[in-house]
Amino acid sequence: EKGGYEYFMLKEIVEQPRAVADTLLGRVGVEGTLTLDEMRLSAHDLRDISKIVIIACGTSYHAGLIAKYSIEHWCRIPCEVEVASEFRYRDPILDRQTLVIAISQSGESMDTLMAVRYAREQRARVLAICNVNGSTIPRESDGVLYTHAGPEVGVAATKTFLTQLIACYLVGLYLAQVRNQKFGDEINAVIEQLAKMPEQVQQVLDTVEPVRTLARSLKDAKTVLFLGRHVGYPVAMEGALKLKELAYMHAEAFAAGELKHGSIALIEDGVPVVIVVPSREGRGVLHDKILSNIQEIRARGARTIVIAEKGDDAVRPFADELIEIPAVPTLLQPLVSTVPMQVFACELALAKGNDVDQPRNLAKSVTVE
Ligand code: M6R
Repeated sequence: EKGGYEYFMLKEIVEQPRAVADTLLGRVGVEGTLTLDEMRLSAHDLRDISKIVIIACGTSYHAGLIAKYSIEHWCRIPCEVEVASEFRYRDPILDRQTLVIAISQSGESMDTLMAVRYAREQRARVLAICNVNGSTIPRESDGVLYTHAGPEVGVAATKTFLTQLIACYLVGLYLAQVRNQKFGDEINAVIEQLAKMPEQVQQVLDTVEPVRTLARSLKDAKTVLFLGRHVGYPVAMEGALKLKELAYMHAEAFAAGELKHGSIALIEDGVPVVIVVPSREGRGVLHDKILSNIQEIRARGARTIVIAEKGDDAVRPFADELIEIPAVPTLLQPLVSTVPMQVFACELALAKGNDVDQPRNLAKSVTVE
């Protein structure tokens, strides 16, 4: 049931703090040790891994792109991310030491399923991250880590995306633990920080009202561009996808540093550009770089909509609109920076009179290749 909301999507957005908490529940022990028993892959198997390949589609692919940053940083294992529909057609190099992570909310996306089958034929080990118990992809994988988001009815992935991120962080931390990486203190700090994330996501929801007003004001925009760096780049891609699928508008995401290599020519007076600013903590260089990217586009007439952590006063002079999110470590920032984008796309689509639960031409799970 819609629980008093007009659309499932609205309900699913506000359920995110709970979904995140439920996905963490029972997986982090008192001493910060992680138990992920449904993985069905032994610590021995995981110590042998020399490469990780993440395959997924759509929003799940964006979760994979974000996962790459933390997995490579914490585990020092090379990690590739690829859209499932491209994967098996390029003769990818896989073997027994490859861990393939298939991310799929439904567990039924045909593109992802075919990629999983292919990977297993090549003897790779496959771990599914999935939200639907007993669906096909986890049944055909060596192990599964379920996200506990509860049923998601709206076609647009929202709460399942945040829980996929949690699952990816847990896998990364777990791998780092079993492989005894040298980041022990950092790993423990992240585990502690993860426990606070439901509360941080709630904070975003509590302060998101101005985003709705802003979204309604952009109902007639021809395009919206999204910029990010580091994990903010896939977050920007997710923001653009949400806008396309719900509001039927042109939207495109760029790595902020790539803009000057061509796409900056798109910037003209009044073009709305949403920018995700990295946390200042530990990533000072990135933060400064994106400030100059914002200045460049603003000087060319862009209307800058800046998502930045609370207290980041340096961005204020360049933000036509400022959306504040809680300050969290950069690698975890997607958990909070995505939420205003979901609200933005949903509200803009509603302002256009679209059905946000059933956008045109789309199905919740895509069971054809
Ligand atoms: O069920 P899956 O996670 O495998 O689905 C993948 C995509 O079809 C899905 O994420 C799609 O992009 C969403 N509708 C986006 O909101």
